[in-house]
Amino acid sequence: MRNLIDIMELSVEELQELIDRAMDIIANPEKYAHVCAGKKLATLFFEPSTRTRLSFEAAMYELGGHVLGFSEAQSSSASKGESVSDTVRVVGCYADIIAMRHPKEGAPLVASRKAGIPVINAGDGGHNHPTQTLADLLTIYREKGRLTDMTIGVCGDLKFGRTVHSLVSAMSRYPGVRFVMISPEELKIPKYILTDVLDPKGIEYEEVTSLEGAMPKLDILYMTRVQRERFFNEADYVRLKDSYILTPDKLKTAKNDLCILHPLPRVNEISVAVDDDPRACYFKQALNGKYMRMALILKLLEVDV
Ligand code: CP
Repeated sequence: MRNLIDIMELSVEELQELIDRAMDIIANPEKYAHVCAGKKLATLFFEPSTRTRLSFEAAMYELGGHVLGFSEAQSSSASKGESVSDTVRVVGCYADIIAMRHPKEGAPLVASRKAGIPVINAGDGGHNHPTQTLADLLTIYREKGRLTDMTIGVCGDLKFGRTVHSLVSAMSRYPGVRFVMISPEELKIPKYILTDVLDPKGIEYEEVTSLEGAMPKLDILYMTRVQRERFFNEADYVRLKDSYILTPDKLKTAKNDLCILHPLPRVNEISVAVDDDPRACYFKQALNGKYMRMALILKLLEVDV
């Protein structure tokens, strides 16, 4: 039985298999309409979500399966003090697969040891968000036709932004990929990503504070929100929240085929005036998340199509 807790649990070959499956789902949705008939997905969300929870649910419905779960800890018995381990042991009696989001890093890993059914990490604190990375990879692949040979700028809250941690790890395995980490000093990417993931592979990266300075060299620009919920101090959040705001003016020096991504939700990091730019791909990215979650559910449930 497989879980997905960290994107690095999937080999490059398996990532391509998921991308190919998602592309087939896009081309032939009717082929998949009933393949999960009788199967149940439990969405256990101890932290708010729009895209991840609803795209998981849409994914399971479009595969012909069913969905149960909760969207906040308060409406579950966690509010009475029940542990994650006990919760998933019980849910394992009712469902076939779990997608779990939790504010504590490592909670989905703990859950995977007790559930008895596959567990998917739908975001754990400031740590990882592997299924967002699946959405990101499919979007890059569809927009660029490749996952190799590109300069990726990640911009904003690189310290707490779990989507960035998963994306940089995943993309580090493709040849010819370079990174520009654009953040305020206080929100730099965690050192372990540099020392444990990039340095051993000799991958080129630079850490800068200027988005304008980095713009001309980027093939992908991955904007992120400053993660208010992970700050200990509101004053620091207020000081840093508008560090980077992407506007049409700032895109004047960008490549014509730049691909602008954002895991969403956005607060102020991308002006709505950018939305009509053909390089803005963040709403396509949200849609791609559904297709990749369909592909992942099929893989973890070992459904033959
Ligand atoms: N990208 C993402 O995880 O969005 P939600 O928080 O709305 O699920």
